Amino acid sequence: MAQAKDVALVVGSLRKGSFTRMAARALVEVAPTGLKLDIVEIGDLPLYNQDLEGEPPAAWTAFRDRIRAADAVLFVTPEYNRGVPAPLKNAIDVGSRPYGKSAWAGKPGAVVSVSPGAIGGFGANHQLRQSLVFLDVPAMPQPEAYIGGAHKLFDAEGGLTNDGTRAFLGKFMAAFADWIAANG
Ligand code: FNR
Repeated sequence: MAQAKDVALVVGSLRKGSFTRMAARALVEVAPTGLKLDIVEIGDLPLYNQDLEGEPPAAWTAFRDRIRAADAVLFVTPEYNRGVPAPLKNAIDVGSRPYGKSAWAGKPGAVVSVSPGAIGGFGANHQLRQSLVFLDVPAMPQPEAYIGGAHKLFDAEGGLTNDGTRAFLGKFMAAFADWIAANG
């Protein structure tokens, strides 16, 4: 059997009780066996500053190396002010440099946005896709994943309790496995 594809899972929320992280864990649970999802933390990445490239912070180097080693990238993000939360944008910027050595280039990707609100983080989802075009990350177009009403989907332990959402996330991950196979 072929080796499972290594998928770097980047979560755009840093808070402990994050619905986005709960959704990310649910994605890990429903992923097909051909994908191995690994949450890559972004909370300790110093803010991007090109002046630091001469001697990059160890956290930047470790992050870049981890993304470079991955077969694919999956972003699961909340929406802040109709856009991408700063920690996630920072991680994208850190991974994209130094110039000409972007860790993201050519990795098949997918985006899931999560919000308690009804629009399901549409603005963040598409703002992120805008960066992915520039970064040469082929982002899966369909199915789109805007997970709204997130505060009603999980139990006190963060487990996904909504069967419809679980089924949808399962289909999403199956489609992503096909997308990786076609674009990897
Ligand atoms: C928000 N929230 C929010 N929600 C949304 O649907 N669209 C938005 O534009 C915003 N803007 C926004 C800005 C800031 C600074 C904060 C802190 C929050 C609400 C947000 O969806 C909610 O706090 C989620 O619970 C955040 O995701 P996590 O941390 O639960 O994963």
